[in-house]
Amino acid sequence: MAKKTIDQTEVQGKTVLMRVDFNVPLDENLAITDDRRIRMALPSIKSVVDRGGKLILMSHLGRPTGGEGDEKFSLQPAATRLGELLGSTVHFASDTVGDDAKAKAAALGEGEVLVLENLRFNPGEKKGDAEFAGKLAAMADVYCNDAFGTCHRKDASMVAVPEAMSGKPRVVGHLVAKEIAYLSDAISTPARPFVAILGGAKVSDKINVINNLLGICDAILIGGAMAYTFSLAQGGKVGNSLVEKDKVDLAKELLAKSDGKLHLPSDTHCGDDFGNIAGCNKVVVKAGEIPDGMEGLDIGPETAKSYGDIIKGAKTVVWNGPMGVFEKPPMDEGTKAVAQAVADSDATSIIGGGDSAAAVEQLGFAEQVSHVSTGGGASLAMLEGQAFAAVDLLDEA
Ligand code: 3PG
Ligand code: MG
Repeated sequence: MAKKTIDQTEVQGKTVLMRVDFNVPLDENLAITDDRRIRMALPSIKSVVDRGGKLILMSHLGRPTGGEGDEKFSLQPAATRLGELLGSTVHFASDTVGDDAKAKAAALGEGEVLVLENLRFNPGEKKGDAEFAGKLAAMADVYCNDAFGTCHRKDASMVAVPEAMSGKPRVVGHLVAKEIAYLSDAISTPARPFVAILGGAKVSDKINVINNLLGICDAILIGGAMAYTFSLAQGGKVGNSLVEKDKVDLAKELLAKSDGKLHLPSDTHCGDDFGNIAGCNKVVVKAGEIPDGMEGLDIGPETAKSYGDIIKGAKTVVWNGPMGVFEKPPMDEGTKAVAQAVADSDATSIIGGGDSAAAVEQLGFAEQVSHVSTGGGASLAMLEGQAFAAVDLLDEA
């Protein structure tokens, strides 16, 4: 069922409290290294500003502990960046529900924007505390959730705040609507063949995704270090590869029920020095034949070719997790080949956030896919078929 959107909501002269996910990566000088999450929130922000709404933005950044060093989690850099992107003044409050926030929220003019300090500086945020939520809720007439990356969380700003605003409009933003359209709707009624590509280090991160997608997909292509745990389950030799020994039985179970849908690499690119990948001895071996002293670091060329052929024939592709150590050439070849095949296919292609998003951006394929998610954990949770309380409680269109 479609949710009511911010565009469908009257905002002229009203105060809109919008939860965004400005949890962006910062370097040691507190410079934002990837502002995509801020840029992706602009359509919702502009929708309010352009129609004369008074906009309060709230977000978390990182995982502050309440101790020393928390200053590095300030949202000030994100507020500054937003001002640059909008080309207008963005006010910043040094707290969330304290005097500064209250005064600046009350002083907001139509079309103006206020960013509150990091929600997680208040312990009530992670606890879903109703009192904290009540104070945030009291500042506004309309609630909007455009924080897709945080939609799998039950933090106060995601659930208790909209609960406290019952009776007022509670709607989704453009980004959340778009992410749901790709990650949930497109997957529940996929054009076929529907191919999932799953990589990354651990089987344990992807068990629920594999379980859910086995019931929906036509093929699941496995890569990344996760493949070596599957290889162990088949009695293969994995050398020094990263494996989860305690997940071997689980890998066997997944293989047994996969009905031929799970595809594993037929060859592996390995090396003998993870610390010096560019300069180490590199060999390609058959899957399950990784020599002692070597570790698997990427899918091999034969696998890249056969995965590419399957992907090129797909009509829907979902990709989560790189095929190898894509940050370090030459172990980026498998991930590159898969990205190229996704780009060449005419499938609706959906890339999970986190590492997969970083891989397609870094390798230059971001413009050639249908959708790159802004959610890491959230996109995985959605592929697992999980319901999101933070979205379910919002108004229907
Ligand atoms: C993320 O980057 O995963 C989201 O912003 C949520 O952050 P969290 O994992 O710290 O809850
Ligand atoms: Mg996370």
